[in-house]
Amino acid sequence: MAWIVEKLQRKKGDCWSTTIEALETLERRTFPKSECMDVRAELSKSSTMCWVVRPAQTIPKGHEGPSVLGTIIIQVARGGRYRIHKLSVAERWRGQGMGGVLIDHFLSWMREQGEDRECDLFVDTARQPAISLYTKYQFTRVRHISNYYGTDRDAWYMQLLL
Ligand SMILES: CC(C)(COP(=O)(O)OP(=O)(O)OC[C@H]1O[C@@H](n2cnc3c(N)ncnc32)[C@H](O)[C@@H]1OP(=O)(O)O)[C@@H](O)C(=O)NCCC(=O)NCCS
Repeated sequence: MAWIVEKLQRKKGDCWSTTIEALETLERRTFPKSECMDVRAELSKSSTMCWVVRPAQTIPKGHEGPSVLGTIIIQVARGGRYRIHKLSVAERWRGQGMGGVLIDHFLSWMREQGEDRECDLFVDTARQPAISLYTKYQFTRVRHISNYYGTDRDAWYMQLLL
């Protein structure tokens, strides 16, 4: 299936509600309940940015799939600092380059903002595909944090400095 990446613009109406619902479904299916964010609340913040992958073609009515196949959600702090809060691609669509393209879009945007930018994140040490993806994009493992996500569920704190 052809797909496109777009930066989500805050707007009201049907399209916005459908997108929020699709993001909520993606979140629920990807992360344990205790780690699911409140998508609506998060996206209503002016300090949050989001890119989504959507199917590119017009699909005949009645045959529509999810309107969002993947997303990257970024929290913006002061002084050129950004945090990848969430990165996810629906299971069925993984391994086709969507995760890489999402991170590419965000990093290109970040580079356009000027020099001395940094981006960080926490990732479960068991999420090997995500760790490989971040490493491919030059993030480095800065710190190992035991029990970050719960008992025996550790995290890597990773960082990219530009
Ligand atoms: C991490 C995730 C977003 C990757 O998305 P994706 O669309 O499958 O990734 P891509 O196809 O763009 O692959 C890009 C790179 O990711 C890494 N990667 C992807 N799948 C991988 C796998 N199964 N094993 C190891 N590395 C993998 C590779 O470095 C790959 O580059 P390569 O193709 O040159 O080897 C996806 O697996 C996912 O949603 N996982 C669950 C949620 C999650 O762990 N999120 C991160 C924590 S917030």
